[in-house]
This record gives sequence, C-alpha cells and structure tokens, in this order.
Amino acid sequence: MTCEYFGLCGSCTLYDKNYEEQLAYKVELIKDEFLLDKLDIITSKESHFRNRAEFRIFHDKNKISYAMHTLDKKSLVQIKNCSIVSKTIYNIMPKLLKEIELNEILKQRLFTVEFLCSTTNEILVTLIYHKKIDASWEIEAKKLAEILNIELIGRSRGVKKIVTKEYINESLSILDKKYHYKLYETGFTQPNSFVNEKMIAWVKNKIKKSKKDLLELYCGHGNFTLVLSSQFRRVLATEISKKSIKSAKENATLNLIDNIEFVRLSSEELVQALNKKREFVRLKDVNLDEFCFDTVFVDPPRAGLDEKSLKFISGFEKIIYISCNPLTLKRDLDILKPRYNILHFGVFDQFAYTKHLECGVILSL
Ligand SMILES: C[S@@+](CC[C@H](N)C(=O)[O-])C[C@H]1O[C@@H](n2cnc3c(N)ncnc32)[C@H](O)[C@@H]1O
Repeated sequence: MTCEYFGLCGSCTLYDKNYEEQLAYKVELIKDEFLLDKLDIITSKESHFRNRAEFRIFHDKNKISYAMHTLDKKSLVQIKNCSIVSKTIYNIMPKLLKEIELNEILKQRLFTVEFLCSTTNEILVTLIYHKKIDASWEIEAKKLAEILNIELIGRSRGVKKIVTKEYINESLSILDKKYHYKLYETGFTQPNSFVNEKMIAWVKNKIKKSKKDLLELYCGHGNFTLVLSSQFRRVLATEISKKSIKSAKENATLNLIDNIEFVRLSSEELVQALNKKREFVRLKDVNLDEFCFDTVFVDPPRAGLDEKSLKFISGFEKIIYISCNPLTLKRDLDILKPRYNILHFGVFDQFAYTKHLECGVILSL
C-alpha cells in the first residue's frame, strides 16, 4: 500500500518499507527481545483494516477538511482520505464532510470526528464540538443521520446527545462459528476486526478443553470471553468499565451463552475479593467459592499488570496473556518466566504501518 500522506501524517510511522518488510522487521525485534526462535504470525490486510479512527476538523473560512497531527505532532496536515481505515469509513468520509460543510449548525466549531464500524458495515459517527450542542443541532443531526444512514452521536463539554443509537452490531467469524456483539461508542474495541478474529481463533485453538473454570481480567465487552467460554465449565470475567460490562452481559445473552459471570471490578478489586480481603456489593449474587480456576486470561492496557495482579495470577496452572505493549509484557514475563514454560507465542499485526505489534503468550506451570 502507498499513501500520499506517508511522511507527513503522524498516524503511520512505519512507511519506508512494503508491508511484508515492515512486518518482518517488527517480528525480528520481538524475537530478539523475547529470545524466541519461532512464533506464530498473524498478518493484517495491507490496506483498509482499521474499523475505528479519529480525525481533527480543519476550518478555513467556509471550508472544512479532515486533518491529522503531523509526524512531529507540532501541527496538522489536511487529508482528503485515509488508506488504512475500513472501506465503510473510507466511503462515508467525503459524504459526511460535504453534508456538514453545507450546514452552518453542524459545521460551526466542529472539532473532531470519530468513526466506529463493524464487519456488518454498520457505522457510528461521533461529532465532537467546541460549542454547546442544543435542540437546533439535534434537528439537523437527525437529518444528517437519515441522509447518510449512519448512527450518530454529538458531544460537547459535559453533553452527550444520542441522535440515533449509541452502539452498532458486530458479527465475528471465529473458526466455524459466528459470534454477535454490540459495540458501544465508549467501551474499548479492538481496532482491526480482521486480525481480531484471527487472534481470538489463535487463542481458542491453543487451549485444550478444561473441566475447570476460567478467570478473565480486563474482559471489555466479552470479545474473547464469549468464544473461550465453550472451553471451560464456567467463566468469571471482570473489567473496570461500567459500559463494557453492560455490553458484555448483553453480548452473552445475544449469543445464548449462560456459563459466564461478568462483574464490574478493577483488577486490583478482583484480587482483593478473591483473597477475601474485601467484600463487594457487586459480588452479592456471585459465590466465588464455587469457582475452581485452572486458567487465567489477561488483556491489560498498555501499562501491563500491576504488581498485585501479577503476583496473584502467578499461582495459576495456565496463563493466557494478550498484550498491546511488548515492553510491559517483557517486564511481566521476566517475573513469571522462572516458574512458567512458554507454550506458545503469537504476534498479531493489529497496527500495520506503526512499530506496534500485539502479542499473545500462553504459559504453563
Ligand atoms: C486492551 S483492552 C482489552 C479488552 C478486551 N479483552 C477486548 O479484547 O476487547 C483493556 C481493557 O481493560 C480495562 N481496564 C483498564 N484498566 C483496568 C483495571 N485497572 N482493571 C480492570 N480493567 C481495566 C479497559 O476498560 C479495557 O476494556
């Protein structure tokens, strides 16, 4: 893939090699860092792979355009299109801009546009303003959503207006089965659905069916949980975000899965609860003593695991660790490695044209 904004736009930072070369370069870095001879490599599509994206809006007299930060982050570069966003986002971008440009109420002080789309081609657009949005904005926004057939949300300081609805439907094909999810505007979602499907399948393929239970920390909206639940007797899945837990519960119902307990608990709180250091009203309907875990699954944010969570999981027979930051993964693995064997190591190219690689590791005592 080539892009006229390579070298200008700050979004793609690895653009001087073709796709295979840049991936090979990133894989070598991971192999060196983790002292690996081999690993599984999950590739991305070469273009149009991002199912969420955010653009600044550049105002010049009556005209507006999309903009991104430059590579040095010091200024903005105006862009007409973006080759890494999904075709659904790519196609709607000029149409949306044209409609907004013609409408003073929608255009005035528009700061940022966020897009979230699914494999089913549904799209949710969030318009973020540096002005108060009111009833007259809502009338125009409704018309816009209808014309473009999009889900639409407006945001301004302290205000959120849901013009149509605040989620889209996602459908992922994992191995030979389809899983259905509601993706909410605010909850975490993986940025590359194509790689996401393969990443979930990789984990499922690598773990054997167990008669015991799975503990999951950082479960989000149940992206992995729904699929992995078939491999275990029961699952306790926890996460800090209220919206994600709401969505995870809806997603389990949507897929007729009934062996998962989703509970809103931070990883720190979960450790306190399981160590019987603190009681939580949020756990009043869940009997923790009924669980018999043999596996723990973690997919933390870039900061990796906090000290107490890391210590807590290091008693489990099996650990599945998905990481979007090799630096913190390395730090955490260095602590786990003396007791554990690495059974499988995979890299998932969620963030093509950047130096980032998502990693997955399966460890056993
Ligand atoms: C990388 S995302 C993974 C989510 C999910 N596994 C997925 O694939 O969509 C990390 C998740 O951790 C949650 N999170 C962040 N800090 C947390 C904490 N201290 N305790 C529990 N969850 C946390 C975030 O809300 C987010 O949903």
